[in-house]
Amino acid sequence: SKINLKDYQKPSFDVETVHLDIKLFEDYAQVNSTLKMVRQTTGDIVLFGESLELLSIIMNDKALTSEHYQQEDGKLTIYEAPDEVILDIQVRISPQTNTALEGLYMAGSGDDTMFVTQCEPEGFRKITFYPDRPDVLAIFTTRLEADKRYPTLLANGNLVEAGEVADAPERHYAIWQDPTNKPSYLFACVIADLDVLTDSYTTSEGRDVLLEVYAKSADIDKCDVGMQALKDAMRWDEVNYGRAYDLDRYMIVAVSQFNMGAMENKGLNIFNTACVLSSPETTTDARSFSVKAIIAHEYFHNWTGNRITCRDWFQLCLKEGFTVYRDQSFSADQQSSAVQRIDDVATLRAHQFAEDAGPLAHPVRPESFVEINNFYTTTVYEKGAEIVRMIANTLGPDDFRKGTDEYFRRYDGQAVTVEDFLSALSITDDKIEDFIDWYRQPGTPVVSGSQTYDSAAQTLTITLNQQTRHVKGFDAPKPLPIPVATALFDKDSGAIVAERMLLLDEATQTFVFENVASEPVVSLLRDFSAPVQLNYDYQDADLAFLLKHETNGFNRWQVTQMLVNRILLQSQGAKSSPEVYLEALAQTLPVLAADDAMLAARLLDIPSAQELASAIPQDYDPVLVKEQRDGLYQQVADKLKDQWATLYNDLPMQSYEDSAQARGIRALRNVVLDMALTANVEGAADWAQQQYDHASCMTERFGALKAMVNHQLPKANDYLTDFYKRFQANDLVIDLWFSVQAAADDVTPVVIKSLIAHTDFDWNTPNRVRSVIGAFSSQPTVLWTAEGLKMYTDVIKKLDDANPVLASRLLQVLARWNTLAEPRRQMAHEQLTDLRKNVASKHVLESLESVLGAA
Ligand code: ARG
Ligand code: ZN
Repeated sequence: SKINLKDYQKPSFDVETVHLDIKLFEDYAQVNSTLKMVRQTTGDIVLFGESLELLSIIMNDKALTSEHYQQEDGKLTIYEAPDEVILDIQVRISPQTNTALEGLYMAGSGDDTMFVTQCEPEGFRKITFYPDRPDVLAIFTTRLEADKRYPTLLANGNLVEAGEVADAPERHYAIWQDPTNKPSYLFACVIADLDVLTDSYTTSEGRDVLLEVYAKSADIDKCDVGMQALKDAMRWDEVNYGRAYDLDRYMIVAVSQFNMGAMENKGLNIFNTACVLSSPETTTDARSFSVKAIIAHEYFHNWTGNRITCRDWFQLCLKEGFTVYRDQSFSADQQSSAVQRIDDVATLRAHQFAEDAGPLAHPVRPESFVEINNFYTTTVYEKGAEIVRMIANTLGPDDFRKGTDEYFRRYDGQAVTVEDFLSALSITDDKIEDFIDWYRQPGTPVVSGSQTYDSAAQTLTITLNQQTRHVKGFDAPKPLPIPVATALFDKDSGAIVAERMLLLDEATQTFVFENVASEPVVSLLRDFSAPVQLNYDYQDADLAFLLKHETNGFNRWQVTQMLVNRILLQSQGAKSSPEVYLEALAQTLPVLAADDAMLAARLLDIPSAQELASAIPQDYDPVLVKEQRDGLYQQVADKLKDQWATLYNDLPMQSYEDSAQARGIRALRNVVLDMALTANVEGAADWAQQQYDHASCMTERFGALKAMVNHQLPKANDYLTDFYKRFQANDLVIDLWFSVQAAADDVTPVVIKSLIAHTDFDWNTPNRVRSVIGAFSSQPTVLWTAEGLKMYTDVIKKLDDANPVLASRLLQVLARWNTLAEPRRQMAHEQLTDLRKNVASKHVLESLESVLGAA
């Protein structure tokens, strides 16, 4: 059933303290809890619980029987409770059979198991009955007890006691106390046998903090990158936001079975191994960089999420949007800020724009949901971050800092809303409150415009208008406040003659620039100043001019992307021939390669087939789009055919170094290798083998392997076999091995079936499922066939019961079936309709309703 934002009500009871006692046994766990509750408003006590076996409830020393409470739909309602209550609740749970990876669950198999929790958003109710909502904050004490073959017993806060269990010499226990008030979704515990890497950090306030990263012993040598990133993030938050860490201990635990990336549990983060482990031999640069960003993200949540949390799950973007903005800013300080912005905008355009254009479009702050897990989306996270960025840019650094200081001052220790956030940020400028509409309205605004130049008056007039599609089920869209960063370039000198931030906040507006001596070239939406589609009345020559004269790397990339889109989406009314683009690239690339290799690599980006598809509202033909995309790629490769060898040789392999420059060289070398193979440059197949054989790190080795596989080189299979043998013991590398085959250009459903049948495939490990099924979905020409779709929907069926969070996320990839050209559209409709008959989880059903509702 649907939950609505407008129906929010305060909880009738607050929880002051919770004592949890979790005893783990061979095939179940016993959970006893003692809650001290105090009445806030009228009403019954409402506890949530799922998949629990209730053994007893005692209220103020009196055992309750079924006449005192009602249990229905995962809710336990206790009638006529007095104003102060001590509740003792005993339940039994089965972590050993919990495949949904929510609540307390077992990861691993055989002798190699561990127990961890995932409580956000509503997993705590799978551990015990509790008012499991983010606006109920309490002080937690946790006792864990287990067999000694699990020596690692961790929970939030400080360790206060540990020892042997009386009368059970094979068992031990630990008691942890968290001094901070927190909602239940931030609870965590770990029962495992892990090694630990330790370090320490002294905060700006003089607190000595013990830092610990826990992992399996075989992985403990891959924890240094994460540890360093943690210390960097701690310093960064002190310098940039004045926020210091508040406990004596910060723990990170790596687990191989996890639905998402990581989780910011208070003082005890739990991480997908893929998002914390990193070593040069096993981890690509891109992965390693994202490890650092995710470590920082979870750390930053300590203030934006934990100390100030969300009133209800509709406010998810309050913590996620702000925290993503913070981690993006952190990352921008660790590499070139232009490249960081390119990566963030590329992700937004590829995934969030697609989501906003399809049937799953929703506001950054949704107004209703059936299953909140379905709303951990790129709209909430990445578009949410873009809104914070627009606010930060509008205010400027000093006033933004004043606003965030005020936010932390006012709301520390509370569960708040997006309105509260905006009200704190608007203390220096009340216009900021107008940004609320960005949180309420779905759909990507399209900004179009044109210019007129009056040579007599020496004025340039820019007319801009904005339009947002009307998404079914929402109010007619209103104009939003859109900051459009603008510069005028003198055509002769290439210099900037005027620079202004235009605020477009009506449907149509004109902006006049005075004293403009000759008609300039206008650069708009610089640094991607707002998350909108730009449709400006450019000539190809203007774009080529901007590619040459724009002053920062991001804007140059943005211009190339505009050119590429105009070439590839001609059927959509755009209008460019490739010549201008190819010529501009040929001139720019060789210079840039020596100067900023990472940027040079990005300049060769051609949007993925999925991203291009998201700009096609109907009659999308995946084969045609692939042909056009591959065709342009081939033209680029051919255009620079004579230069690839020089470029490749000018980027020699060196001993491994983790610097921005070294990463740039490795990235560009991989791109150049692929281009050379595409252009059939003589000897390029040997470069690939040499690069693999002499690789100093995974970026080089995997780049070579991928090129060999994608170009179907005769030796590709031998190298795949070698790669498998070399890294057989390392799950994360074997994920790469699966994904390079599943995402190969010539993949077929038969290949996917054989990968699924491989002994190393495991339905219970989301990373492995994603490495095959997720990777496969990057090939639309195979996915959108009868066999491809059958296979894909069969996977969703199979996972629907075992892991509905994962199943629903996989389903969301099919959202744009409705834009396909016939007969694919009809075929997709049949398979999705058939899927609906075969699934039962509310996660998948809610997504399916939206996806099918598009018909
Ligand atoms: N709060 C986590 C993060 O952004 C994500 C956890 C989401 N988990 C889930 N089951 N939906 O870092
Ligand atoms: Zn987050």
